[in-house]
Amino acid sequence: MKEKLKKIVENATNEAKTIKTENDYLNIKSKYLGKKSELFELIKSIKDMIVEDKKKYGPLLNKIKIELDSIFTKYYDAVINADEKVTFDPTLPVSNDKGSLHPVTIIAKEITDVLKNIGFMVLEGPEMENDYYNFSALNVAENHPARDMQDTYWLDNGLLLRTHTSPVQVRAMEKYGAPIKMCAPGRVYRNEDLDASHENTFHQVEGMVIDKDISISNVIYVMKGMLKEVFKQDVEVRLRPGFFPFVEPGFELDCSCTICGGKGCTTCKYTGWIELCPCGMIHPDVLKTSGIDPDIYSGFAFGLGLTRLAMMKYKISDIRALNSGDLRFLEQFNVR
Ligand code: DAH
Repeated sequence: MKEKLKKIVENATNEAKTIKTENDYLNIKSKYLGKKSELFELIKSIKDMIVEDKKKYGPLLNKIKIELDSIFTKYYDAVINADEKVTFDPTLPVSNDKGSLHPVTIIAKEITDVLKNIGFMVLEGPEMENDYYNFSALNVAENHPARDMQDTYWLDNGLLLRTHTSPVQVRAMEKYGAPIKMCAPGRVYRNEDLDASHENTFHQVEGMVIDKDISISNVIYVMKGMLKEVFKQDVEVRLRPGFFPFVEPGFELDCSCTICGGKGCTTCKYTGWIELCPCGMIHPDVLKTSGIDPDIYSGFAFGLGLTRLAMMKYKISDIRALNSGDLRFLEQFNVR
């Protein structure tokens, strides 16, 4: 018996040294420890042995079984670790497949960086919103004609895909109260037919400041700072009246055309200005709805079109390219 066992251990150990793959490992395990193995037959025979032999060989056979198992695992582990070493070999040449940031991501980061520097929190909100946050809390009651300004994707579960980032304003007011400075970049959805200048999925960044004595001149200051960072040059801005139910007064903020420097070109339709960002003073009812006293606090808000800004900065003429996932297009923005 002892001779037999010695032979088994010897053969198994020699064979274990040849393990190179997972298959080798599984095969050797089954050959020496499996149901058809010599060792298994011996273990099975214990029950027919006389008591003395049972006491002698029972523990021994068990010990050998455990020992062989750990030898196989040891050699297989060495194979796996050797593989890992190759994977992490720092001397291997690097592949040329480098990723790049999406143009909208680049702009979003530039803008949120400027805002963070002047104390804004950067927040996120859900893309699947409810009627309250997307409309009612923003002064757009049911049946209000302003709901038609934004063609909405309603979902079967009664929720909707947010049509703008403004609901994050409401969530922020509820959660943090006043005073507050926040921005929220994110994706928004509108049920639009697609063409070169219309997408059903695009990006905005919402901004909001609430404090005592906030006025529209604060918006102008913040916007100029942001645009300077994006375009790396001073940009002029101007305000025109605009209507949005959640601001009073509301404005459309235009910036001087960065392509022609305000002289007039096809991009600015020879006006020298580009419509960029709706904004305004937060309507007192909106403040009140979210628990902020409009007699003490006032605030401004803006909803900047990130997609539009990316198109301007990178001179992209077809909005559909941005969501196309086309690597030939995306690889041009070689920033990581
Ligand atoms: N949420 C509006 C939209 O997408 C844009 C907007 C207008 C946002 C005025 C604002 C604002 O914060 O004050 O059409």
